[in-house]
Amino acid sequence: MAEYLDVRTNYNKELLKEAAKCINDGKLVLFPTETVYGIGADGLNEEAVKNIFIAKGRASDNPLILHVSNIEMIERIAKDISPLEYELINNFFPGPLTIVLNRKEIVPNVVTANLDTVGIRMPENKIAHDLIELSNTPIAAPSANISGKPSGTNINDIFNELNDKVDYIIDGGDTKIGLESTVIRVINNEINILRPGKITYEDLSKFAKVNVSSHVLKEVEKNDVVLSPGMKYRHYAPSTKCVLVYSDDQDKLINKMQELENDNTLVITNDNNINKFKNAIGYGKTLEEISHNIFRILRSVDKENKELVIIEGVKTTGLGLAIMNRLIRACSHNYIEL
Ligand code: TXA
Ligand code: MG
Repeated sequence: MAEYLDVRTNYNKELLKEAAKCINDGKLVLFPTETVYGIGADGLNEEAVKNIFIAKGRASDNPLILHVSNIEMIERIAKDISPLEYELINNFFPGPLTIVLNRKEIVPNVVTANLDTVGIRMPENKIAHDLIELSNTPIAAPSANISGKPSGTNINDIFNELNDKVDYIIDGGDTKIGLESTVIRVINNEINILRPGKITYEDLSKFAKVNVSSHVLKEVEKNDVVLSPGMKYRHYAPSTKCVLVYSDDQDKLINKMQELENDNTLVITNDNNINKFKNAIGYGKTLEEISHNIFRILRSVDKENKELVIIEGVKTTGLGLAIMNRLIRACSHNYIEL
């Protein structure tokens, strides 16, 4: 049983003292960020970080992100930061962006899965920020979920899954964005998107040429070189079989989904289309709403006991790229594009 702190409505920094002490004592703390919840530990404490991998059942070759609260902390753990990287840090930190930088020796190998780089993010969420500041150490934190499951965006969804695996739970309510941060790496002054998120291709293109990793929308093949190890793994998938359907032509899209549906299917669709189907749940109207709701919905579909879940896709521009990246993986690449 973890200790539980509820700061959904009443929050001040003082309340986090015990949680910060947990981090400094090498324990695991579940905490909110603006993207998704994280399972945090002192990122410079090798034993503590190992326990994150055990708690999640995570493959040891999949590196963790270090969360910082200021630029000085970045410079403690990363080196050779280029002018473009500083520009991105200055423009997007704090916020939902992770930059992969060259790491310093001080970062334990277990954090980076023996890579010579480290992913760094400065969360904007006040609770996350204060927790890092009070512990005064970079906090290693993957998304809060058992490996393979959708990331947790509220404590209710993940309590049973993680309560006996962490020492302390901070309940800060629903996370604002609902999808994990954009992960980028700068190579030869070009920005490579390893995982899309709220900071979009379009946002980043103002600073340099941007390339999107081919694994964002495609399956990783056996001999592919993977810049982001996380892309190799099954993720976000409910136990129920899912299919993702998309077309730029809205009529074609709805027709195809109607053709696939029967009494044993569940449709996940735009709120505007719910009444076009027999048994449907709405995931919101705008891309922001969909991003906010989608992990909670993916976590709920198994309870419906259906044979197939049919999910409406979105256009891959802006935040749509991140949504489609998660949905394609939730459907184990079972994707129909018309
Ligand atoms: O929004 C987020 O990023 C959340 C919150 C808690 O901050 N964290 C999160 O962590 O999503 P995680 O561990 O679930 O995903 C981190 C991703 C993985 O796909 C991992 O492979 C990649 O970032 N990554 C981490 N360090 C890397 C590195 N040095 N090089 C390449 N990819 C890296
Ligand atoms: Mg994750």
